[in-house]
Amino acid sequence: MFPSHRPRRLRRTPALRRLVAETEVRPRQLVLPMFVKEGATEPVPIASMPGVVQHTRDTLRKAAVEAVQAGVGGIMLFGVPLKRDATGSGGIDPEGVLNLALRDLRAELGDDTVLMSDLCLDEFTDHGHCGVLDGNGGVDNDATLAVYADMALAQADAGAQYLGPSGMMDGQVGVIREALDAAGHIDTGILAYSAKFASAFFGPFREAVESQLTGDRMSYQQDPANVREALREVSLDLTEGADLVMVKPALAYLDVIRAVREVADVPVAAYQVSGEYAMVEAAAANGWLDRRRTVLETLTSIRRAGADVILTYWATEAAGWLRES
Ligand code: PBG
Repeated sequence: MFPSHRPRRLRRTPALRRLVAETEVRPRQLVLPMFVKEGATEPVPIASMPGVVQHTRDTLRKAAVEAVQAGVGGIMLFGVPLKRDATGSGGIDPEGVLNLALRDLRAELGDDTVLMSDLCLDEFTDHGHCGVLDGNGGVDNDATLAVYADMALAQADAGAQYLGPSGMMDGQVGVIREALDAAGHIDTGILAYSAKFASAFFGPFREAVESQLTGDRMSYQQDPANVREALREVSLDLTEGADLVMVKPALAYLDVIRAVREVADVPVAAYQVSGEYAMVEAAAANGWLDRRRTVLETLTSIRRAGADVILTYWATEAAGWLRES
């Protein structure tokens, strides 16, 4: 052994490790996804996501304030309506649950956080697809874009500061950007779900939003095998005016996050999805993993891969831990 080559010299004490750590996770980089359920009078637990609930409009406000006080950087809101139809009209209705709750949160929080809204039809359609259907049961890309444009305006009017189109329709960012600009919403931003994969890790989310889907989303979400295609999606979204781009899920796609980070000149977000949450919670509940250490390790790895922003259901709790550190 060459005597001076001793990497362990940099690991000897906590102070040394603190001094030389390459990657940090800060509360401000975390975004909390939240669910609000129409007509709920009590928060409804989501069995496959222990600790996560479908909020009432009232408990949503309180939990959002708590998240902001803990230091999280933003909130991403999903709505769970009571009634669904073929075109997802509840997503456009200003009185729809998502738009009402956006108004509540904006009134409560003002500019204290970054209020984001999921822009997709799957929670609002009776068939559970992210768009409207054509005559053959397929998802009609361009007819869906027209609905997304209306949904974007409804969400911007309701006070959302960033819109998160998550339906993977071609051209969605451009159509939404044009609609926002034409209506004078030039400051409303777009967090583009650029590389969203057809993932088994979304399983628990389908319970969270009471999804009516029976088939799959392989004709619009990406094949998990493809990274070049993810870069193509990112470059199209940037051309169309995306303010941030996102990779989703996170942990099984760290290489995609890294590849996107290297080409994108905007902040890169990663979504640590419901299945990633459920996996760790289940193992921790069995005593098989140290919950806190595992959560922080996953967040660190997503940051190390290159994500600037992480959407995670642990945002509030992790922010609390990280403030102590
Ligand atoms: C679609 C949407 C999904 C998620 C976020 N937005 C589900 C899907 O594409 O099936 C998944 C989030 C998660 O699993 O945590 N509106």
